Amino acid sequence: MKLKSTQNRIAIAVGAVLLLAGTAFAGDDAKAIYMDKCSVCHGNDGQAKTAKGKKLKVKSVNETIGGEDEAAMIKMVNEGKGDMNSFKKQLTADQIKSVVAYYRGLAK
Ligand code: HEC
Repeated sequence: MKLKSTQNRIAIAVGAVLLLAGTAFAGDDAKAIYMDKCSVCHGNDGQAKTAKGKKLKVKSVNETIGGEDEAAMIKMVNEGKGDMNSFKKQLTADQIKSVVAYYRGLAK
């Protein structure tokens, strides 16, 4: 009986750790990164209608998605282009991949 409840507790603890690890990963998610690092120029909605977006003549995702595939966009975010910095020191390859996917998902 005692042993069983200890085992249960361990199982619950292991489950909780796995769950937390999962949430931490998701908390690092594309939307949060986008809002933090990209939306100032590209806009919350990808339309680039922010002060900075207008100043730098950032295009709306509706326009760019037709001309650039995912790989090309990942490369630009990695290496930077024109007025956009390289993000490869700030973000991991996985984060860049998912934030680009998020950005592409904003296209209407
Ligand atoms: C300082 C403003 C700024 C920030 C912050 C910024 N960008 Fe950009 N981004 C630009 C500009 C300007 C271009 C156009 C570059 C060019 O074609 O010369 C661009 C281009 C792009 C492109 C290629 C499509 C296009 O519009 O030509 C993608 C994809 C992109 N940005 C994604 C991101 C992501 C993802 C982030 C956040 C990790 C980000 N950007 C942060 C300014 C910014």
